[in-house]
Amino acid sequence: MTEVESGDELRFATGMSELDRVLGGGAVKGSLVLLGGAPGIGKSTLMLQICQQMCKTCKILYVSGEESARQIKLRAERLNVSGDNLYLLAETDLDRVQEAVHQLQPDVLIVDSIQTLYSGEQTTSPGSVGQVKECTMTLMQLAKGEGLTVFVIGHINKEGSIAGPKVLEHMVDCVLYFEGEQQMSYRILRAAKNRFGATNEIGVFEMQDGGLIEVPNPSEALLEGRPVNAPGSCVTCVMEGARPVLAEVQALVVPSNFGNPRRTSNGFDYNRAMLVLAVLEKRGGLLLGNCDAYINVIGGLSLDEPAADLALMIALASSFRDKPVPGDLVAVGEVGLTGELRSVNCLGQRLSEVRRLGFTKCIVPSRSSGKLIVPEGLELIRVDNIRQALAAIV
Ligand code: TYD
Ligand code: MG
Repeated sequence: MTEVESGDELRFATGMSELDRVLGGGAVKGSLVLLGGAPGIGKSTLMLQICQQMCKTCKILYVSGEESARQIKLRAERLNVSGDNLYLLAETDLDRVQEAVHQLQPDVLIVDSIQTLYSGEQTTSPGSVGQVKECTMTLMQLAKGEGLTVFVIGHINKEGSIAGPKVLEHMVDCVLYFEGEQQMSYRILRAAKNRFGATNEIGVFEMQDGGLIEVPNPSEALLEGRPVNAPGSCVTCVMEGARPVLAEVQALVVPSNFGNPRRTSNGFDYNRAMLVLAVLEKRGGLLLGNCDAYINVIGGLSLDEPAADLALMIALASSFRDKPVPGDLVAVGEVGLTGELRSVNCLGQRLSEVRRLGFTKCIVPSRSSGKLIVPEGLELIRVDNIRQALAAIV
């Protein structure tokens, strides 16, 4: 080890500060970054847009197996991307890509997408586990060998993993996920893995006619349209895999007109929602038996984590009592059957996300495991059970 020279890794700015932030302060020379996301979310757009700035200082080779050079050019024109240092190659054969890299000696290689690339050494079809693995390995060697920064686009399937397999995550230096609702314009970039930086930073973009625009204040963007001072709304923070995500839970509680109260839940696990309702009635003392309850999670998120219980309970109580929840408050905690609040995992990570998105108060179970670092500017309201929580908030 004493013989190895270290020094800081060499970084350069991509020209998109939200992307640089997620990468841990810019792209690292000789690294491979995997950019995953659902089809149509804007991966190609993001990659093409960062070329605009990067090609002022770097030579870039943009390899596409999905679009022809002409199509890329048309898209680039629409995005106002141009430059002499930007080379396009419409190719799916890995050997030819390698040849082009050796011939051109670019500083940055962009591959769109890993699922279209194939290696002659594998007999399976492009996009199969073997191919995707083999191609990524070769690109990784290219990156390390040539000191080249490689960005690889990967489509994720319904289960949310790149190319079905999680096989790529352990191989590459950095895994970014580009997420968002197709019908909504906001896009979130998260790092699921980063060998050169922290993974708890997020970048927010907005998809507009002229391409992706950076959103400097994501707290407003993510919870956009959140009603101010309206009863029945509460924000929580859930972990999506390794990633904390803020979500707004809404509840509407109204007197029931029929014998059987109606309960619906959209985005919140139905059985958990019924459990929270029952605990709220029995342990919280709210007479919900003659009320309809409608539950909805904003933004199309699906919450299946017990840590969202407390927010749902507060939203329900807030609607029942017609009393709004403070707008700068987030609730995190699991509700037990006796009305006790149970600790949740990764509380530190959640709190930093809560603070990062501009909230100043967080109500949490008082028994939290481990040592907790509370971010500056965040006030913790610690409660033992739901009665204390209701007394403190609604
Ligand atoms: P794209 O980058 O092609 O997605 P991906 O590579 O992740 O599959 O983005 C496609 C969508 O983005 C498409 O539905 C249209 C939209 N879009 C805009 O709204 N504005 C633009 O300037 C561009 C280029 C795309
Ligand atoms: Mg694409």
